[in-house]
Amino acid sequence: MRIGILGTGNVGQALASAWARAGHDVVLGSRRPDDPELLARLGELLASGARVGGPAEAAAHAEVVVNATPGTASVALLRSIGAEVLADRIVLDVGVGFLDDGSLSHPGVSLGEEIQQAFPETRVVKTLCTVDRTVMIAPDSLEGPATVFLSGEDTEAKKVVRGLVRDLGWTDDALLDLGGIATARGQENFALLFIGIAGATGTYEFGVRVVLPAAAGSGLAP
Ligand SMILES: NC(=O)c1ccc[n+]([C@@H]2O[C@H](COP(=O)([O-])OP(=O)(O)OC[C@H]3O[C@@H](n4cnc5c(N)ncnc54)[C@H](OP(=O)(O)O)[C@@H]3O)[C@@H](O)[C@H]2O)c1
Repeated sequence: MRIGILGTGNVGQALASAWARAGHDVVLGSRRPDDPELLARLGELLASGARVGGPAEAAAHAEVVVNATPGTASVALLRSIGAEVLADRIVLDVGVGFLDDGSLSHPGVSLGEEIQQAFPETRVVKTLCTVDRTVMIAPDSLEGPATVFLSGEDTEAKKVVRGLVRDLGWTDDALLDLGGIATARGQENFALLFIGIAGATGTYEFGVRVVLPAAAGSGLAP
C-alpha cells in the first residue's frame, strides 16, 4: 500500500520503519525534506526503502495519509496540502494536541473530529494514539496482549486501517472498533491517564486491555 506519513518525529519514524519492513511503499512528509540533519537522522530508514519529500508530495503519493504531527499543528498542515488532494484519501490520525501546560488542545471535542470536519470528503480513522511509539510497532514486547482502538465513520476505511495496524504486529482481537469519529474523544482523552500511568510505572512502554466478563467471551472479534 502507498503510505504518506506527515511528521518525521518519533512516531513518524517508528511507523515508517515498521511499514517499510512490512513491504509498504512509504514516503515521509517533512516541512524540511532537504535538511541535511534530517536526512542524516533518517539515514537507516531511507536505506530501508522509505523516501522523504514535502508534506504535499507525501500526501499525493499516498492511499493512506498518516498524521504524526503535533495535534496543535495538524489541521493547518493538512490545509496547506489541500482538501482536493486529501479528498479521496484515508487519513490515519495518530495525533494528540497538547498545550504548554500539559492539557489537551481539543477538550470536549477531538483532533480526529476537527480533521474530519475540515475535510468532509476525506475518510478519517483515529487509532494508535493510546500507546507509545515503541509499543505501537512492537505489541509483542508487552507481557500480555493490549487493546488499541479505532474511531471513524467509514467502514471500508477502518478495514484498511485495521490491516495496516495488523502489519505492525497487532492481532485482530486486539483491535476494538469504538464507532464513529466522535469516539476519538475517548482515545485522545486517554492521553491524560496515559501520562498518569507512565508517572506511576516509570515507563511509557505499557498497554491497557479491555477485559470483558467471562460469559461474554473475548467480544473483540472484528
Ligand atoms: N510519541 C509517542 O509515543 C506518541 C504516541 C501516541 C501519539 N502521539 C502523537 O503523535 C504525534 C507525533 O508525535 P511525535 O512524538 O512523533 O512528535 P515529534 O517527535 O515532535 O514529531 C512531530 C513531527 O511533526 C512534524 N511537524 C509538522 N508541523 C509541525 C509543527 N508546527 N511543529 C512541530 N512539528 C511539526 C515535524 O516533522 P518535520 O519537521 O519533518 O516536518 C515533527 O518532527 C503527536 O500528535 C503526538 O501527540 C505520540
